[in-house]
Amino acid sequence: MDQDQLKRLVAEAARDEVLRLPDGQLLGIGTGSTANWFIDLLAPHKNHFSGVVSSSMASTNLLLKYGFTVIDANKVISLPVYVDGADEIDPNGHMIKGGGGALTREKIIASLAKQFVCICDSSKQVLELGAFPLPIEVVPLAEASVARMMEKFGGTAKLRLKNNKLPKQEKLSEPFVTDNSGWILDVSGLHIHDPVKLENEINQIPGIITVGIFAQRKADVLLVGGSSGVTRLTF
Ligand code: 5RP
Repeated sequence: MDQDQLKRLVAEAARDEVLRLPDGQLLGIGTGSTANWFIDLLAPHKNHFSGVVSSSMASTNLLLKYGFTVIDANKVISLPVYVDGADEIDPNGHMIKGGGGALTREKIIASLAKQFVCICDSSKQVLELGAFPLPIEVVPLAEASVARMMEKFGGTAKLRLKNNKLPKQEKLSEPFVTDNSGWILDVSGLHIHDPVKLENEINQIPGIITVGIFAQRKADVLLVGGSSGVTRLTF
């Protein structure tokens, strides 16, 4: 099975898992290609839920296209479950997220959820976080100062650029802009031995909107797709 088929497989398992919730509940839904599979597969069952809370404009657009009732996170006190992908997940359920640029809203919605169900293919499982460049969303004014701070942590920060169809010259000069009007620094070279500590430390840097380490609010459940099917792990 290729990576996309594995993503579909875990999305099916996540659909089956959330359909075991009683009718009429709210559900948190993440962002990315695995989350998109989950949305596609959940669409025929949308009336099982009173509404969904989405972690990005991209997911919201897809959910609205399918006719889900999308609720503003401000109107929600708590969610039973949040389902989302990850760029890396370690044996403790700590994750790197933000490859799709939605880390801030993902962290907010995850914080509302009683249970975080991470869905991914087995290529995302790592012993230690950090091979995937760590996304950090910043206020544009702080791009250079945060990048310098990252050097002190042993990392090299690269401003994420738009992946659009502009001519090469223009494309090179255009930063990727998040749903919150932030920019993203992708930081490579970090050795994340203690994800909770590093998340805390990076959170103290002025100009940071969100760091893509999800360790303080980690995954509770992992549905991971590999050659022998879907495995369910709890942390
Ligand atoms: C988006 C994310 C995604 O969950 C992460 O990038 C995984 O994406 P995919 O399911 O496409 O592999 O954090 O900000």
